[in-house]
Amino acid sequence: MSTRITERPIRLDDPDALRRWSLRCHAAGMTVGIVPTMGALHAGHLSLVERALAECDRVVVSIFVNPAQFGPGEDFERYPRTPDSDLELLRGLGVHAVFLPTVAAMYPETPPVRLQVAGDLGTTLEGAHRPGHFDGVALVVAKLLISSRAERAYFGNKDAQQSVVVTRLARALDTGVQVVVCPVVRDRDGLALSSRNAYLEADERRRALAIPGGLADAARLFDAGERSAAALVGAVRASLDRVAAEIDYITVVDAVSLQPVEKAGAGCEILVAARIGRTRLIDALRLGLDDAPVVPG
Ligand code: PAJ
Repeated sequence: MSTRITERPIRLDDPDALRRWSLRCHAAGMTVGIVPTMGALHAGHLSLVERALAECDRVVVSIFVNPAQFGPGEDFERYPRTPDSDLELLRGLGVHAVFLPTVAAMYPETPPVRLQVAGDLGTTLEGAHRPGHFDGVALVVAKLLISSRAERAYFGNKDAQQSVVVTRLARALDTGVQVVVCPVVRDRDGLALSSRNAYLEADERRRALAIPGGLADAARLFDAGERSAAALVGAVRASLDRVAAEIDYITVVDAVSLQPVEKAGAGCEILVAARIGRTRLIDALRLGLDDAPVVPG
C-alpha cells in the first residue's frame, strides 16, 4: 500500500470542494465528522474537535462567520477573525480538513429558499432576543450537512437552544447525520469559553463571573434537594443583580423540548442570557449532569 503525504489540514474553500473531499473519504471506506464553527477557536471548540477525532475516521472543521445569523446592529463586522492561529490549533490536533469559504462561496446569490425554524423553538429565548437568528443558523447548518455528507456533526451545549434546533433540523431534513452535543467547557475562573469573551474589559470580565457563580449557587441548591424552578432562577438572578447585569432571561427548561418547567429534575437545564456592558453572554447548566462551575472568591 502506498502512503501519500499530504499537508494537513487540507484547505477546502467552497461547498463543491467539501463535497468532493467527503466523497473521497467515503470511497475509501472512512466515516466523516464535521465541527461547524465561526472561528476564533478556543478550548470549547477544540473539545468538539477532539471528540470528533475520537469517533470519526476523517474530521473537517468549518470556519465561517455566517452573515445570515446576525441581525442588524449585531456584531457581524467586529466578530473576532483569527484564521492563522485557528489553523495552527487545528494542525496541532491533527484535523484532516478545514472548510474556510468566503461569503461569496457560501452565498453566491441571495438564497432563493428560506428555512424557518417553526413554532416556539425559533422564537423563544435566544429567538425572542435575536429575531431570525435560528433561521440563519438552520440555513448554514443545512448547507454544511448537505455538502459535507458527514456521518456525525458536533455541537456544544453552551448554545443549548442551537443544539436542539440543529438536532431537529438534521432529523426533519432526513440528512441521516447524527448530531452529537458536547458539554460546556469553562475557563479556570468558571466563565464559559466564548469567542465573544474577547470583547470584555477586565472589569466586565470580573462582573461576568456572576453568571457561572449564579449557576453554581443554583446547582448547590439543586444538590441540596431544591426542586422549585423559581427558587433556582432566583439564585441566578440574585448573583446577576449583584453586578448589575442586564438579564435577558433565566429559565429552567426541559432539555429536549425547551419548555419551561416548574419543578426541576434530571433532564432539565438552566439557561441564562445576560448583557455585561455591550457584550451579550449565554450559558447553560444541565442539572444533575454537569459539574457545577467552580468560581473563585
Ligand atoms: P461558534 O460560536 O463558533 O461555536 C461553534 C460550536 O462550538 C457550537 O456548537 C458551540 O456551541 C460550541 N462551543 C462554543 N463555546 C463552547 C464551550 N465553551 N464549550 C463547549 N462548546 C462550545 O455556534 C456557532 O459558532 C454557529 O452558530 C454555527 C453553529 C457554526 C453556525 O454558524
